[in-house]
Amino acid sequence: MRVLVTGGAGYIGSHTCIALLEEGHEIVVFDNLSNSSLVSLERVSQITGKTFPIFVDDVTDRLALDSVFSEYQIDAVMHFAGKKAVGESCVEPLMYYQNNVAGTLTLCEAMKAHQVSTLIFSSSATVYGDPHTTPITEDFPLSTTNPYGQSKLMVENILRDLIAADNLSGDSFWQLGILRYFNPVGAHASGLIGEDPQGIPNNLLPYIAQVAVGKLDKLAVFGGDYPTTDGTGVRDYIHVMDLAEGHVKALNFLSSHNVSDCQVWNLGTGNGYSVLEMIKAFEMASQRPVPYEITLRRSGDIAECWADPSRAERELGWKASRDLQAMMEDAWRWQSTNPEGFPS
Ligand code: WQD
Repeated sequence: MRVLVTGGAGYIGSHTCIALLEEGHEIVVFDNLSNSSLVSLERVSQITGKTFPIFVDDVTDRLALDSVFSEYQIDAVMHFAGKKAVGESCVEPLMYYQNNVAGTLTLCEAMKAHQVSTLIFSSSATVYGDPHTTPITEDFPLSTTNPYGQSKLMVENILRDLIAADNLSGDSFWQLGILRYFNPVGAHASGLIGEDPQGIPNNLLPYIAQVAVGKLDKLAVFGGDYPTTDGTGVRDYIHVMDLAEGHVKALNFLSSHNVSDCQVWNLGTGNGYSVLEMIKAFEMASQRPVPYEITLRRSGDIAECWADPSRAERELGWKASRDLQAMMEDAWRWQSTNPEGFPS
């Protein structure tokens, strides 16, 4: 199949490009490079030995999307393009709704106009809000507390409405998959691509990695008084290549089933690790100290969150296979060989 990958130059997008190419699919990458680098795509080609078209454009640009769909026979779309920083979304809500919601609307309109019906959407466990218990299954209540999470939930609701309209009209056009990521970490084992956040990292793992490599002094552990094993936040960290492979499995499912409702799958490992456990695991993998200080909780954080991934295992035949040590070793290999990230 030929897959349009929006946001394909980004962290999860570039890793998924590798998984798609290694599965024998063709890809067309569409990315505005606002939070990514063309170098990541050069390295995708280096890793896979394959080349592919790249469009440096924005998903809010309908004409740009039309030209891609007119030039290439696209069989499916994987939609990663979007803003993803919780804190930034609270300061710039309009930018988040414009990019994440309006961008998806424009993409869906272009898909419909060009009769491309299969879409896999990059959602997030953040749509579960503060779950009443763990592990989390796909039928848990949905609620969000920030514009980033709201934008993900809005898009999910839009996709559900598209399917509902199909059912009302007796049309069975849309084939939609929603993947709810838990906490993606790590990098391709080659160390050639990885997470390259702009500025000071918001997320735990890239921050720890930059402390270990000497770019940052020490880690602030946001809260040591949560009702968890050691008082620090617990999350379901999943290797980015396991996540990427989950997308390929979801594509296989959608292309071999005629679904009449939105398919939703949690992509997590089903295991939770605390911040202190992550620090220790990274020190083991890197043989570098990661100094830290326990500070106040970060507003909006929850105590613990991890997935019940059994639906994806059952329906997609997918299960995360890389353990915490692999996540840390691969993250360190990327960080230590690319201390400044991708060259500008
Ligand atoms: C993990 C744990 C923090 C940084 C967010 C988004 C989610 C997804 C992943 C996009 C928490 C602690 C963190 C630090 C710390 N993003 N922490 N010091 O908040 O679980 O999820 O990123 O899709 O949608 O909500 O990830 O990595 O920020 O935090 O102590 O400097 O690490 O308190 O317990 P989070 P995170």
